[in-house]
Amino acid sequence: MTGSRTSQTFLPPVMEARRWIAGKPFPKDKPLINVSQAAPIEPPPKALREKIAETALSVPEAHIYGPVLGLPELRSELAQQWCQNYGGQITLEQVGITSGCNQAFAAAISSLTNQGDEIILPTPWYFNHKMWLDMQGVSAVPLPSGAGLLPDIAMAESLISEKTRAIVLVTPNNPAGVEYPASLVMDFYLLAKKHGIALIIDETYRDFDSRSAAPHELFKQSDWPQTLIQLYSFSKAYRLTGHRVGAIVTSEGRLQDIEKFLDTVTICPNQLGQHAALWGMQNLGKWLAGERDEILSRRAAIASNMPILERAGWKLLGLGAYFAYLKHPFDLPSDQLAQELVDEAHVLALPGTMFHPEGSIDGARQLRLAFANVDGEQIKELFNRLAAYHPKS
Ligand SMILES: Cc1ncc(COP(=O)(O)O)c(C=O)c1O
Repeated sequence: MTGSRTSQTFLPPVMEARRWIAGKPFPKDKPLINVSQAAPIEPPPKALREKIAETALSVPEAHIYGPVLGLPELRSELAQQWCQNYGGQITLEQVGITSGCNQAFAAAISSLTNQGDEIILPTPWYFNHKMWLDMQGVSAVPLPSGAGLLPDIAMAESLISEKTRAIVLVTPNNPAGVEYPASLVMDFYLLAKKHGIALIIDETYRDFDSRSAAPHELFKQSDWPQTLIQLYSFSKAYRLTGHRVGAIVTSEGRLQDIEKFLDTVTICPNQLGQHAALWGMQNLGKWLAGERDEILSRRAAIASNMPILERAGWKLLGLGAYFAYLKHPFDLPSDQLAQELVDEAHVLALPGTMFHPEGSIDGARQLRLAFANVDGEQIKELFNRLAAYHPKS
């Protein structure tokens, strides 16, 4: 290996996209439509902000180091709600609170791998997963998604080697939006179990899944802790992005190992954020159901506006969670297209090149629209602008 750990990977894509718009004026009659970031931009609901303020003023312990694996009350609440939502047995000891879901991934990987090991990542992938593996000296083995942007089980099995330590699934998927069928998730679990490797499942967008039933049956398997590592984020559900709270659900033994990582990196998760997450879980169920309805109505607006883009040669590859994943009709590679779209259409979206290995032909043809922060009217305007756009060259 040459150079430092961090020099092994690429620049943060969201920062790069921000540079494309920096200092550029966008007129009032054609403002920028920003569909680049998969995070709510509104603050949490007022009641939750009041709870944070009250906690800051009246709970002295909320300002000092807390338990490395998080507040027991929050771990317990999550375990309890997960048992209800997924069925099966999950205990407080099998839940760790982290400083966001990205850290949960980093902790999971550190507990699984040594330098030179391999992790299988379906493509298009979530770029921070790839970045962390690069920085760990762990090889990300791309598993190109097949029909409907679903990963293929036989292809995954053919990629498993002696060095493989885990397969990672993101469902609902970022960037593709796809909700993986419960049967496919189970097949991946059984595959991982058969080969004695871990299945990491990142369910950051679980609260916006369009299905009302549990999205999978993995926690109903009596031996789930031996194979499964589930990751969760409080960023999207309660708009707590800046408070950095996430979770990891896995075996008690693995969590003891993960505790070493968390103790060294952050010592404890943000205390105010954890109190907020707990209060949100206990009091904002109805509010969150309304948020989900809104996201589903925006998703429906994407679907109903699609014909105008299809007539211009675009194709919808995946739709769900916060995302529409599109194939564009131009000769231009998507990283160039995305920058032209800023200047010509006043649209900021992330190119498929950011979600694929370098040089990928698929990545060059794809574009991700993160629609959580645009309403029905803006979606219509966005699609009109995309349909009217033609490359300069
Ligand atoms: C799949 C996925 N995992 C993790 C994260 C990061 O979540 P957190 O804010 O909890 O670190 C995101 C955020 O966009 C994501 O899309």
